[in-house]
This record gives sequence, structure tokens and C-alpha cells, in this order.
Amino acid sequence: MKLGVNIDHIATVRQARRTFEPDPVQAATESEKAGCDSIVCHLRKDRRHISDKDLELLKKTVRTKLNMEVSIDPEIVDIAARTVPDQATLVPEKRMELTTEGGLDVCAGFDKIKHVVGTLTGKGIEVSLFIDPDPDQIEASGETGAKIVEFHTGRYAEAFHAGEQYEKELDVIVNMTELARNKGLVVCAGHGLTYANVALIAGIKGIEELNIGHSIISRALFSGVYEAVKEMLELIK
Ligand code: PXP
Repeated sequence: MKLGVNIDHIATVRQARRTFEPDPVQAATESEKAGCDSIVCHLRKDRRHISDKDLELLKKTVRTKLNMEVSIDPEIVDIAARTVPDQATLVPEKRMELTTEGGLDVCAGFDKIKHVVGTLTGKGIEVSLFIDPDPDQIEASGETGAKIVEFHTGRYAEAFHAGEQYEKELDVIVNMTELARNKGLVVCAGHGLTYANVALIAGIKGIEELNIGHSIISRALFSGVYEAVKEMLELIK
């Protein structure tokens, strides 16, 4: 099981003052030193955290794999096509949301999404689609030409922390992982994963990579990025 570290929230703190620290690029380096398998960042339309300059520097410095989260907005797709990260993860994006609230609706936006997958794949970028663990979304994802899906684990995470019946949500992820793999897709997962809830997801056979941001960066405030990433790696491995 691999770990991708999302470093957006280091930039969120910096942007609170529109200054130069803390530096998300340094967080990426520390995460890699601790042994993570990829660095994830989301260049949002409103640039609320990661900036164009951060992306440029990450492209130059990341030694593992740079996974850029990309909305299907033409400006952002164009930047991704010019930057050529190792991987692009297509995500839905709403201006007022606090975080990515759900998966991409590949069924509803099929033609546009297929076009973006083709554009980015044509540049040699591996493309992943961030979707809800749902059979129709999996089917449509495969038909876009994308080779990877990342399941949104938010519903499981919310149920877990609310003390509700999270087993049902876990079963959905287990079953949808099997379905996606049978269709030849690589399966990743992420969103809302924490030190407390990660083990059950990390135990699912067939998921290859977890992408985690907020919880790791939160812990890093007290322990440092290196220790926070190491501890998460130990939990998922
Ligand atoms: N994966 C994707 C596609 C995301 O959009 C995000 C949030 O930016 C994450 C993983 C990480 O979510 P969290 O910050 O809740 O760990």
C-alpha cells in the first residue's frame, strides 16, 4: 500500500498571511525523506493554497511522483498539460466548498471528462478520476480511457468519526474495489482519512495507494512533517 501526501494545507497556512512561510515545497521534501510514495497538490481556480509557482517548483523538486489534482476547467487543464506532472487526478471543484465534497460525476460530464483524459494522456500524464465508489461511475470512468480511479472515502470517514455504522460504507468500498479491478482499473482511495480510521481502508486488498492531507498536516504541527508521515506510513504498512 502506497502513501501520497497532500501538502495543500501547508500552503493554506502561508496564504493566511500571503507570505513566504511555511513552504509547501519543503513539506514535500520532508515527506519524501520520511518515505512517502508521492506528493499530491491541488491547484485550485481561486489559488486558495497552492500557487502556480509552487507547482513549478514541485515539478522540479519532487523525486517520487507528482500527482496534481486538476478540475476540468480549461485554464487548469492547460496548466497541467504544460507542467506535465507524473499523474493528474481529475476532481470536481466548487468555488465555495471547504474541500472536495464528493466524487466527480463522470456519468453526467462524460464527454468533457473523456476529452480532458485524452488531452492529458496525450501529454504522457497518467490520469486518475476521483469518484464516489459507485458502479455507474466506475463503468463510465473505464470508458473515458483513464487507467486509475481514486475512491472518495469521505462517507466512511464521516461515519467512523460520528460513531455511526461505518461497516456499510467500508463494504461498499471493498466491493467497488473488486469491481473496478475486474474492469482493469488501478484503485486508489482518499479523503477524510486519519490516524484513527486509516487501518480498515489500508487493509482492503486491491487498493494500491492512499492519498492523505489534512490529518497528516494537522499532526505535523506538533510533531513535524517527517514524523507525521513516518507514523502514517507505519499505520498503513
Ligand atoms: N484525494 C483527493 C482527490 C483530494 O481532493 C483530497 C483533498 O484535497 C485528498 C485525497 C486528501 O483529503 P484529506 O485532506 O481529507 O486527507
